[in-house]
Amino acid sequence: MTATKGLEGIVATTSSISSIIDGTLTYRGINIDDLAENATFEEVVYLLWYGKLPTQSELDQLHKDLEANSAVPEQVIDQIKSYPADTNPMAALRSTVSSLALFDKEANDMSPEANIRKAIRLQAQTSTIVAAFARIREGKEPISPKSGVSIAENFLYMLTGETPEPIAVEAMDKALVLHADHELNASTFAARVTVATLSDIYSGVTSAIGALKGPLHGGANEAVMVMLEEIGTPDQVEAYVKKKLDNKEKLMGFGHRVYKNGDPRAKHLMKMSKELGKITNNMNWYNMSVQIEELVTNLKGLKPNVDFYSASVYTSLKIPRDLFTPIFAISRMSGWTAHILEQYENNRLIRPRAEYTGPSSQAYVPIEKR
Ligand code: CMC
Repeated sequence: MTATKGLEGIVATTSSISSIIDGTLTYRGINIDDLAENATFEEVVYLLWYGKLPTQSELDQLHKDLEANSAVPEQVIDQIKSYPADTNPMAALRSTVSSLALFDKEANDMSPEANIRKAIRLQAQTSTIVAAFARIREGKEPISPKSGVSIAENFLYMLTGETPEPIAVEAMDKALVLHADHELNASTFAARVTVATLSDIYSGVTSAIGALKGPLHGGANEAVMVMLEEIGTPDQVEAYVKKKLDNKEKLMGFGHRVYKNGDPRAKHLMKMSKELGKITNNMNWYNMSVQIEELVTNLKGLKPNVDFYSASVYTSLKIPRDLFTPIFAISRMSGWTAHILEQYENNRLIRPRAEYTGPSSQAYVPIEKR
């Protein structure tokens, strides 16, 4: 038995949800470029769960279902209020999503009908939780979700209490579309491993949130903003990047296990970052990002991934840096739940092997002789 570090190149399951073939990402066979330009996040959620684009009435029904399930139980809001003021937002999300199970009478009902209802509740409530947490830690009361608007608009509304500008809603919606699913990424794999034991959907998404939190996965978007802030001004870019590369440190938002010629999602966020920079009259983050991209590509041959330009997009939307990864989770909840439903449909326990590298033939030594 020989281990493959990081399971690189290992095909661990079949899936009909999303594919990455020759650098092209599709959701259910539809090119991500097509979806980024044309689809709403809710259409994508439907597509991921049901395998086809919704008709108008199916989409209307999904909007109604999401809306009807977007409020979070009062006990869960009280729980968020009890978190220490400096709680990491992803830790808060992980604990809060896990707690939702305690108040869901169907939590342990494993029927497909109950599982899709739980997927709807999870999708609807994740953005409510993130917004509530963000307000509560600032000493403000959470804002209840409003009806008749998209998840993207509702999230921005619940965060600020104000009706967001259409361009802000468009940018948020596009970001949600672009992050919704990504084949067998680390967090989705974690979700599938968990539910392949026939554990419940809440356990699956809680595992996923824990995996997304890390800076090599979803946490990279926040780390990109830390880098941009550390650099500060365009004249510092070159020295900063060269120093990082000389020290063999990673530049966040670059590289990808699967894409070697560039992440197809990055260009959409780059465009959005430029547009928002112009509108907000602050091109600093965009300009610095472009400069960093050029340097890193020239010096190291690495291309930006989805996290790189999402940092400047969210900053232009005045979203606090530590909410970037929770926003990734709001979107990826759709992919996680789709994968969990798919795993249940054709389940087998996921239990790989390890190549043993420890000592062999050791005798047990009684404690008094150690
Ligand atoms: N900056 C500098 N060098 C890099 C980077 C980077 N961002 N990414 C890869 N490399 C180098 C790495 O140092 C290694 O070089 P060497 O062979 O000389 O040791 C080589 O490229 C291979 O790197 P690796 O880490 O073994 O590759 P991987 O396939 O395991 O990693 C990755 C993929 C995304 C974890 C990695 O590119 C990385 O750490 N990037 C920065 C973090 C990041 O942006 N993560 C978000 C990923 S996209 C969104 C998501 O899925 O969450």
